[in-house]
Amino acid sequence: MVTTYHLSDSFKKEMLAERPATMWRYAEVLPVLAPENIVSLGEGMTPIIELNRLAARHDFQNLMLKDEGLNPTGSFKARGLSMAISRAKELGVEQVVVPTAGNAGGAMSAYCAAAGIRATVVMPGHTPKIFQQECHYYGAEVILVEGLIDKSGQVAAKIEKEQGAFNIATLKEPYRLEGKKTMGYEIAEQLNWELPDVILYPTGGGTGLIGIWKAFHEMIQLGWLPSDVKLPRMVVVQAENCAPMVDFIQGSERGLEAYTESVANGLAVPVAFGKDMIRAVVEESDGLALTVTDQEMAAGMREVSAAEGILVAPEGAALWKALLKLREQGQIADGERVLMVNTGNGYKYLENFQ
Ligand SMILES: Cc1ncc(COP(=O)(O)O)c(C=O)c1O
Repeated sequence: MVTTYHLSDSFKKEMLAERPATMWRYAEVLPVLAPENIVSLGEGMTPIIELNRLAARHDFQNLMLKDEGLNPTGSFKARGLSMAISRAKELGVEQVVVPTAGNAGGAMSAYCAAAGIRATVVMPGHTPKIFQQECHYYGAEVILVEGLIDKSGQVAAKIEKEQGAFNIATLKEPYRLEGKKTMGYEIAEQLNWELPDVILYPTGGGTGLIGIWKAFHEMIQLGWLPSDVKLPRMVVVQAENCAPMVDFIQGSERGLEAYTESVANGLAVPVAFGKDMIRAVVEESDGLALTVTDQEMAAGMREVSAAEGILVAPEGAALWKALLKLREQGQIADGERVLMVNTGNGYKYLENFQ
């Protein structure tokens, strides 16, 4: 049986003007029921910045960056974790566990501190120290595991089973996606309901990409976007060292052993639980998938920082280098409006470049 959800048409976009500048301005389409359960640290409504200097140098007419590095704990993960921990509070959950490449662990620890929920964070041992230290500051237990995030996932599943902790692993619970979809709502609202032609997104587990796409479809249902709106082409960008989604989309799947670490820790995700959904977004949107090397990301960080004054995460720098490749391949037409989602703050990664 197919369940159809009808979004309430009493939620009008004109109502947003009065709302606080956080992702909770879209509360009607988020799953927390009682406002007193919302655990917020001010996440969302990150700026969309025009990259005029890079655009002029490289002949782009309309180049924008949504800077998710300005969220609490320095990444877009704040959105999903604000949502998931609010819902955990509402459900009376006392302990949560998460496998993380770094950013999700810091965010979960912070929101758990604010909610009074016990947090256990499982991350690869090679994750930069700052990601480990912030979790300690927020009072979480940190477990370091050899290998990539799939191995941390196995340890988190064990803790879930043995200790009864609520497992907040990517796409294994429904709430993080709901928080991340607010990026899609904001892109539309901040661009005055005129969507970009192309969105580049650094893809690990894929929640952000799927969430943005979900938001666009919800806004069509809400009547906030016209039903014949031209949706952006969604571009999946992964690290050359670890590109299971690019391989899957291009029909050349390789074994787990093919994938290794990356300076973009958030992209070192060798198995994407939501791989079919990620591929569906790329196909439905007439999008693309491509990789960028660690060396290119390092160079990209320097280029974006020095030209624009924004120290993007390596994940964000990957988008810039990917965009240049797409442009060279003739995939970006003159005058197209391009938006890159810089998912994290480069300050947290500097250890990777010493
Ligand atoms: C900075 C950053 N960008 C991108 C990702 C990948 O996110 P998603 O699961 O939405 O694909 C992560 C995940 O850890 C991350 O920390």
